[in-house]
Amino acid sequence: MSDIRDEVAETFAELFGSEPAGLWSAPGRVNLIGEHTDYNEGFVLPFAINRRTVVALGLREDRVIRVASGFADEAAEIAIADLAPGAVSGWPAYPLGVAWALGQLGADLAAVPGVDLYIESTVPVGAGLSSSAAIESAVALALNDVWRLGMDRRVLASVGQRAENEMVGAPTGIMDQSASLLGREDAAVFLDCRSLESEVVDLGFRAAGLELLVIDTGVEHQHATGGYADRRASCERGAAALGVTSLRDVTDLTAARDLLDDETFRRVRHVVTENQRVLDTVRALREDGPLAIGGLLDASHVSMRDDFEISVPELDLAVETAQANGAIGARMTGGGFGGSAIALVPAESISRVLVAVDGAFAEAGMQQPTMFTVTPSEGAKRER
Ligand code: GLA
Repeated sequence: MSDIRDEVAETFAELFGSEPAGLWSAPGRVNLIGEHTDYNEGFVLPFAINRRTVVALGLREDRVIRVASGFADEAAEIAIADLAPGAVSGWPAYPLGVAWALGQLGADLAAVPGVDLYIESTVPVGAGLSSSAAIESAVALALNDVWRLGMDRRVLASVGQRAENEMVGAPTGIMDQSASLLGREDAAVFLDCRSLESEVVDLGFRAAGLELLVIDTGVEHQHATGGYADRRASCERGAAALGVTSLRDVTDLTAARDLLDDETFRRVRHVVTENQRVLDTVRALREDGPLAIGGLLDASHVSMRDDFEISVPELDLAVETAQANGAIGARMTGGGFGGSAIALVPAESISRVLVAVDGAFAEAGMQQPTMFTVTPSEGAKRER
């Protein structure tokens, strides 16, 4: 198979009739732990994966942006001055939203030249591995470079989030873009979503003989509509009822139980306990290594299933089957309502888990999941 970077450069040249000025790439992510904590100003511990989106960019002489991709027929073209929420729809809202959001976060776009962009990706779409953040981060880095904006990677993460919130209309947090921009090989990004300070935490999976298996259930999730926004609203209601600006500040769950209805209390309890599990995971990784984090991953899944109620039967089955067949820990990852589960599995047990999960899904009459291992990889970068 030829290198995706060559393919992207060649297709760019065919489409736009010239060589690209450069190639940039950014990865998808797996969240190891810390789910639905980012928009509650809490803690997250995601890592960038070895599945990437590659962007080829060429400068134009006018002030138009054109985007095309290998994953959709639809292309788009718009003048920089016309970029605004509502002006674009479909997948082009991600890359074009980034160009717009750069201006919103302080870049002076009054004199920048137009660009042609061609995008391809090996991050599976709809699997809960942040294919959208990979596009946003690759485009943000590319435009930051060619437009010489000098923006810091943490600001570029906010740019991606702003694009997603306002151009795409999905009320997501800052985690995915942070992982994609700040990721390091064999490490996770420990992010405080209040201060936006981050630290790199070594994972050491390989040295411990562990593989990180992704089990993509194929169940579609959608963050722009439905459950995700609903859970976010519950968290905001809970914080308001408890008199705090965000659930990060809730420390006393006993008092919260008296003040909230049962459902809101369980939503709040998930966030409060999940924040603690992130801190415990970071400590366990640093003091004892990855073999010590299995119980925390398992507990996170239970909390999402029972308290936050964002799992689905396919995710539960994937998690339980992996746990019963040698995984040291497993949980659903990402926003929920579908997408993928992850399992931390000793290398020698991988084939047993694969066979068992396939068998369990067949027996339950569920669509066969797609399974693959991922390695913690470096974040967005210029390729050429
Ligand atoms: C999605 C969002 C993130 C985060 C997770 C849940 O991936 O994009 O911001 O809220 O869900 O942890």
